[in-house]
Amino acid sequence: MSDHSSQKSQMKGTKDRFSTSGFIVAAIGSSVGLGNMWKFPYITGKHGGAAFFLLFIICLLIVGLPILLAEMTIGRGGRSNASSSLFNLSGKKYWGALGLLPIVCAFLTMSYYAVVAGWTIHYAVESFTGMLYMPGIDYKDKFVSFAGGSMPIVWQGIVMLLTGWIVARGISGGIEKFNKVLIPGFLIILIILMFRSVTLPGADAGLSFFLKPDFSKLDSEAALVALGHAFFSLSIGFGCMLTYGSYVDKKQSLGAATLAIGLGDLIYAFIGGLVIFPTVFSYGLQPGEGVGLAFMALPVAFSQMPFGLLFGGLFFLLLAIAALTSAVSILEVPVAYVMHKWKLDRKKATLYTSILCFLVGVPCALSVSGVLNPFKFGEKTIFDMVDFTTSYILMPLGGLIITLFTGYAWKRAGEEAGLTGFWYKVWMFLMRIVNPILILLIFLYSIGIISF
Ligand code: ALA
Repeated sequence: MSDHSSQKSQMKGTKDRFSTSGFIVAAIGSSVGLGNMWKFPYITGKHGGAAFFLLFIICLLIVGLPILLAEMTIGRGGRSNASSSLFNLSGKKYWGALGLLPIVCAFLTMSYYAVVAGWTIHYAVESFTGMLYMPGIDYKDKFVSFAGGSMPIVWQGIVMLLTGWIVARGISGGIEKFNKVLIPGFLIILIILMFRSVTLPGADAGLSFFLKPDFSKLDSEAALVALGHAFFSLSIGFGCMLTYGSYVDKKQSLGAATLAIGLGDLIYAFIGGLVIFPTVFSYGLQPGEGVGLAFMALPVAFSQMPFGLLFGGLFFLLLAIAALTSAVSILEVPVAYVMHKWKLDRKKATLYTSILCFLVGVPCALSVSGVLNPFKFGEKTIFDMVDFTTSYILMPLGGLIITLFTGYAWKRAGEEAGLTGFWYKVWMFLMRIVNPILILLIFLYSIGIISF
């Protein structure tokens, strides 16, 4: 591409912005994802139900929302990708270098996220067509044999194609349009499933597991998981909200957006819990099933439920929609960087990034129960390792960078965020003191340097 046309496409890129409502919908689409519907239920199941949910809410309020506001503020102030925005606002190269970390994290997250998103589409198709359900079948074996074959790579490729196609169409004509269609559809399916789930015979046990806290179940690992999940679930610490923020107009209230996104994320996680736990308990399944809860345990319930094909299909479709609206925001992080760094137009940047992401994701796909399963880091497969490194190491570190930048390096943060007086003081207190200490403690714990 000539310098002139590349410059023209860069200029066109900077004009491509979200509308006010489009930004809120896209940001909610980014935060509500596999985190709410796949990860949240199984980690809540594993760490004791309601007490963990409360811990998660505390992490959202103290750490999540202030960092979410900071990310969007930095993006809008810096008007570029995660690395260049930090550089633009500080004029310091080392901040630009630190800003690369969230971009790497988003790239890695996307590589395994597309794998799980692929599973959800496969399961949706199999459920609607009835192929998923056979009398006497062991759904654990079925999942293990599916994940051990080559189909997950095909589905992962389809997810990358779909995600890349939307991202390549740009912000207003691609990401915004797509979210505005899918998010209302998502809500309708979620409400149908919630009514089905809470009216199942024996749903009470699931509701009380999810809503009655038992604090004896909480331990330091639960704290690490709740914090890591707050980052994952709000799409912070890996540049999504920062990058989306760079396409936001000055007239948008970032404070209001923070509340809307935080509340949206929490409500979706809550309804997700109301869909999963009553179903799990009603069919005598185990809530602490782990990563496979949705894929190994829930099909047992759908296979016995009246109209189970339909409800199962809708459930996995819901997961797929949630995954895609988040995936576009995750892919946008490295794409924005590649466009800027190598002066490429959006289509080429998306194509190259998507191909690379797909290739990096293949070992993740093959490690769940396929040929790469025997290669382990301790107990962890490549898939587990990428999930662990991104969610519990890189995302908190990304959050720490944002916290320190907002608290100490960028003096105009309050003005750009639209915060003054009391709320500005609270925000700064959290960003300067509480959050750096909290994130550091939990980070040191996650890498085994300290124990509580
Ligand atoms: N925030 C996205 C999710 O929860 C990444 O899945």
